[in-house]
Amino acid sequence: MKILDNFLVELSVPLVEAMRAIEKNASGIVFTVNQGVLVGSLTDGDIRRALISGASLNDICGEYHNSELTFLPIGSSNAEIQAALDDNKKIIPLVDSRGVVLDFASRYKLHNFVIMEPYLKGNELKYVSDCVTSNWISSQGKYVTRFEKEISLLCGEGDCIATSNGTTALHLGLETLGIGKGDEVIVPSFTFGASVNAIIHAGATPVIVDVDLETWNIDPKEIKKAINNKTKAIMAVHIYGNPCDMDAIIELAKSYDLLIIEDCAEALGASIKGRPVGSFGDVAAFSFFANKTITCGEGGALIVNNSDLTLRASELRDHGMDKSKRYWHKYVGYNYRMTNLQAAIGLAQIEQFSMFIEKRKIIWNSYRKLLGSYDYFDFQLSRVDHSPASWLFTLLIRDDESISIDEIISRLKDFGIESRPVFFPMSEMPSFAELAEIYKDPNCKNISRRGLSLPSSISLTEKEIKYISNSLLTILNIDIASNKNV
Ligand SMILES: Cc1ncc(COP(=O)(O)O)c(C=O)c1O
Repeated sequence: MKILDNFLVELSVPLVEAMRAIEKNASGIVFTVNQGVLVGSLTDGDIRRALISGASLNDICGEYHNSELTFLPIGSSNAEIQAALDDNKKIIPLVDSRGVVLDFASRYKLHNFVIMEPYLKGNELKYVSDCVTSNWISSQGKYVTRFEKEISLLCGEGDCIATSNGTTALHLGLETLGIGKGDEVIVPSFTFGASVNAIIHAGATPVIVDVDLETWNIDPKEIKKAINNKTKAIMAVHIYGNPCDMDAIIELAKSYDLLIIEDCAEALGASIKGRPVGSFGDVAAFSFFANKTITCGEGGALIVNNSDLTLRASELRDHGMDKSKRYWHKYVGYNYRMTNLQAAIGLAQIEQFSMFIEKRKIIWNSYRKLLGSYDYFDFQLSRVDHSPASWLFTLLIRDDESISIDEIISRLKDFGIESRPVFFPMSEMPSFAELAEIYKDPNCKNISRRGLSLPSSISLTEKEIKYISNSLLTILNIDIASNKNV
């Protein structure tokens, strides 16, 4: 149930229902609606006065509500909302063009659709409390072991080593595979900087190549062009949860005797012909940052698909210490461990994983339905046998000289909508210029220039997605009525 639901009562319900809602929202007021459309308000004072003058708790709200009230369009800027709030109007409903209440604002809560918020309504608090009360808050404890087991099951049963975040998982994976100085690792230009940083930290050279314009993933044709006798590995980043062309990548790896590292940071839950991402590479890294499909706050996991390397990965993660000889540093290692507290949150998240994936698919499909028929946009495409994780909903906006992506982002903010540009090409990072080999990447530049991510939290409702989509269309001066899908 959303907070908003505690503020709305139908006109026809008895006063006692309004009192229950007021009890829950603790704000002294409810808004009356007629089939979802705002028609008035009812305060606890109104109900008290009605009862004193002989009303019964079974009388309907419609007899006592006030039909005069202040409301604002959902697209109102936060400055407009602030101006409308005063001591008598502490809560203001925000409505769409038909008067349907989509949100409410108060001094403490201006309306805002954030890009991606975690959903922590399962056993997160219970499990974290258990860590605290049982004193197991560091990197040992039952939740780490249970988390590793569950992640392994979700990723095709490779061995799972939980880490402090996705970047440490990537670095640990490279180190586990023995990739270092003198080695080249081919990586897509369209990715988050952590993919490239990890290669540099391992002492190897990132070779940055272009991506496919349809899938936005590393293009196997470009990989082939970049292979030489120093090439040691390919980093396949499943960007925005869309699986890479693993058939082609595995074929190249076999032909040229290369290792594969999957960067699955954004892709937990994605699969190819029913086989989960993370099970294709020699190793694979996942991220559980707060905006990811499941979160630990910060957190990561390395999947090792060659069990001969599992012990090495685990020892490298734990200061390089020999598992059978305490304080004996077999390797120059790292402390990349996940804490029991992180794992406790992560385990509670895994319990809700199928619901998260379903919800994300619904969100993704709703956006596609609402925006898909305008030739103003291009969408990330997947092959038919690939099942993406539908992570952050992102689209490409047609080049338009009259409005830039930055301006669209700023205009959406006025509508209370947070949006994001996509990653810059890795080829353009001054910090990587000296340390990387860089190939031409026109497709990546195209995606980077035109990409926009929209709010994708699983708590979003159909109505809210429609509001967000219509706001974008309005900003772009697109005729909303011309949508053939709705
Ligand atoms: C593609 C990609 N790789 C690696 C990472 C690094 O993960 P983390 O932030 O958990 O270190 C991220 C994300 O945040 C990512 O999006």
